[in-house]
Amino acid sequence: MNDKPAKKPSKYQAHQPDADGFIQYSDTEHSTWQTLMQRQLGMIEGRVCQEYLDGLERLALPEDRIPQLKDIDRVLLKSTGWQTAQVPALIPFNTFFELLASKRFPVATFIRTPEELDYLQEPDIFHEIFGHCPMLTNPSFAEFTATYGKLGLAASKEERVYLARLYWMTVEFGLVDTPAGRRIYGGGIISSPKETLHSLSDVPTHHPFDPVDALRTPYRIDILQPLYYVIDDLRTLHDLANRDIMALVHEAMRLGLFAPTFEPKQAANA
Ligand SMILES: [Fe+2]
Repeated sequence: MNDKPAKKPSKYQAHQPDADGFIQYSDTEHSTWQTLMQRQLGMIEGRVCQEYLDGLERLALPEDRIPQLKDIDRVLLKSTGWQTAQVPALIPFNTFFELLASKRFPVATFIRTPEELDYLQEPDIFHEIFGHCPMLTNPSFAEFTATYGKLGLAASKEERVYLARLYWMTVEFGLVDTPAGRRIYGGGIISSPKETLHSLSDVPTHHPFDPVDALRTPYRIDILQPLYYVIDDLRTLHDLANRDIMALVHEAMRLGLFAPTFEPKQAANA
């Protein structure tokens, strides 16, 4: 789930489950899943962290069709007590935080069109399932995500904007240093072939993770990220979940935002 739902309505419509909870997709939609999954399985090798690979193995996602949420739930519930929640293409912030706080990961049950194979603004089922669900089998990642939901629910509008940056720099675009080398754990990277290569290349800046720095870092959702924060271990997310994150938010608010390292959207599009 990206944290910034678009203001304009989505062209996508989520498929609704039938009376048995089964969600039907078209052959084209299944084939889009297959294309995305096969392409990304090749890309992530040697680039994602072991915890992600462990989760992927547990989930045993089908390659030739879009998985059913109940099959994902069975694995997540057993691993960390999480499950998915079927939602429309775009949901209000409050619903997003409520779901995360109750260990339900929102999944919009639609998949991108073949024309938008490489990038779409709305998080689709490939992003949510392939990008995020393997990591949700990891206790530290799962704990941090639920804590983020609880804090977001209680936060003011301004505090939420800061919290969203922390989520962006970890759950969506986080990197981790491992004995085998630098690896990806952020779902926004894992579901994007371009970002998978870019994030570990010499092009972007890599900073050691500091929560206040992350809270102060502006970002754009429609470009390859110019800056990534690197944690030492996934336990960092467990430790962070047990800190007073709102005190860190207030410190970040007092210090203010860093200058953006990217061009503003209008100028970049000109
Ligand atoms: Fe996401």
